[in-house]
Amino acid sequence: MSEIKLNSLVKNFGGNSLAVDNLSVTFPSGEFVCLLGPSGCGKTTTLRMIAGLERPDSGEIFCGDQTYFSSNTGEYLKTEKRNLGLMFQSYALWPHMTVFQNIVFGLDMKNESSSEKDKRFEELEKLFQLKNLKNRYPSELSGGQQQRVALARMLAVNPNLLLLDEPLSNLDSNLRLEMRAELKRLHQTLGCTIVFVTHDQMEAMTLATSIAVMNKGIIEQLAKPMEIYKNPKSLFVAKFVGSPQMNIVDFNDGEQLASSLLNKTKFDKNNVKTLGIRPESIKLTSKDNGDINGTIETIQPTGADWIVGLNISGKSIFAISSDQPPGNENDIIGLSFKLDGLHTFDRNDLKLEAD
Ligand SMILES: Nc1ncnc2c1ncn2[C@@H]1O[C@H](COP(=O)(O)OP(=O)(O)O)[C@@H](O)[C@H]1O
Ligand SMILES: [Mg+2]
Repeated sequence: MSEIKLNSLVKNFGGNSLAVDNLSVTFPSGEFVCLLGPSGCGKTTTLRMIAGLERPDSGEIFCGDQTYFSSNTGEYLKTEKRNLGLMFQSYALWPHMTVFQNIVFGLDMKNESSSEKDKRFEELEKLFQLKNLKNRYPSELSGGQQQRVALARMLAVNPNLLLLDEPLSNLDSNLRLEMRAELKRLHQTLGCTIVFVTHDQMEAMTLATSIAVMNKGIIEQLAKPMEIYKNPKSLFVAKFVGSPQMNIVDFNDGEQLASSLLNKTKFDKNNVKTLGIRPESIKLTSKDNGDINGTIETIQPTGADWIVGLNISGKSIFAISSDQPPGNENDIIGLSFKLDGLHTFDRNDLKLEAD
C-alpha cells in the first residue's frame, strides 16, 4: 500500500491558464480517491503525471517511499518502474489476443515464466468469474465480460496503485452499476490505493472513500463523500456535488429569500455574499406557517419523493419533499429551512464557519 503525495505540481500546455496549477495534495494509503471535477479542470493531466505518461513542468510526485518525479533533483521514474495498474475510458483489449493472452500481457513484458502466468491467470479467473472464457477473443465477449477482463489485465502485475480515468463512462447504466459494485468489492479485497477520475458526482459519491474536488487545475477540497456533501468548503464544491444541486441565492438575485435564510444564521450581512440551501433541507408547509411563503411552479414526482419547483418573489428554487406537497401548481405555500443544509459563503466564495 502506498500513499501518493503531490507537491507544487505544475503543468502548462501553453494555453491561457495552467492545466495543473501548483497542486499539492496527499492521497492516503489504501484510499479509493475519486478525482472529481468538470471537463477540462486538469483531472486526466494529473492522473497521467502520476502514471508517468506526462512529464510535469515542475514539482514532485512520491508514491510511498519511492520518488516518481522531482524537478528539484531531476529524478524521473519511468512508467514501467512505477508498479501501477492503468485503465482508461477506452480500455481497449487487444482484439487479436485471447482473454488469457490479454490478461498475462503485462507478465509477458516482464518475462515471467509460463507457470507463473498460469498461476496468476487462475487467481484472476476466479476473482473476476471468467471461467470458460480463457480462449475467447474480445469480440466474443459481452461488454461486462470485456470490462472484467480489462480489470484483470490491470491487476495481473500486482500493482500497488491503480489509476483509472473515467473507465465506466462508455457503459450503459446497468453495466455501470454492476462495475461500480465490482470496483468497490475489488478495493475492499485488495486494499490498494486507487485514484479514479470522474466528472460524475454521483459516481464519486457512491464509489469513493475520499473525494478530491478539482477546479481549474487545483483541488478545492479533499474529504470523505458525506463530509464533501454536508460541509462543502467552497461555493464551487457546494454547487458541484448534489442533484438537484444546492439552491444558490445572493442579495441581488433573491433579496427576500436571501434575507430569510440569513436570519436563520448568526452571520452579519456585510460578511455574506452568497447563501446556499440543499433542496432536502426545505420543508414544505401550509401558507404563513413557514419561514417564508412561495408559489409552487412545478411538481415532479420521482416515485420515492417529489421534486418541487418554487418561486419566491421572482427567485426559483427546488425542494425535495418525501411527503406529498401541501398544494398544487400556482398555490402559495409555506417553506421552512433546516439549518443542516444551509451554507453561507464570503466574497471569495469560501464557506463561512460559525464561531
Ligand atoms: N496534450 C495537450 N495539449 C494541449 N493542451 C492539453 C493537452 N492535454 C490537456 N490539455 C488542456 O489542459 C486542460 C486540462 O485537461 P485535462 O487534464 O484533460 O482535463 P479533464 O481530464 O479534467 O477533462 C484543458 O484545458 C485541456 O485542453
Ligand atoms: Mg479527462
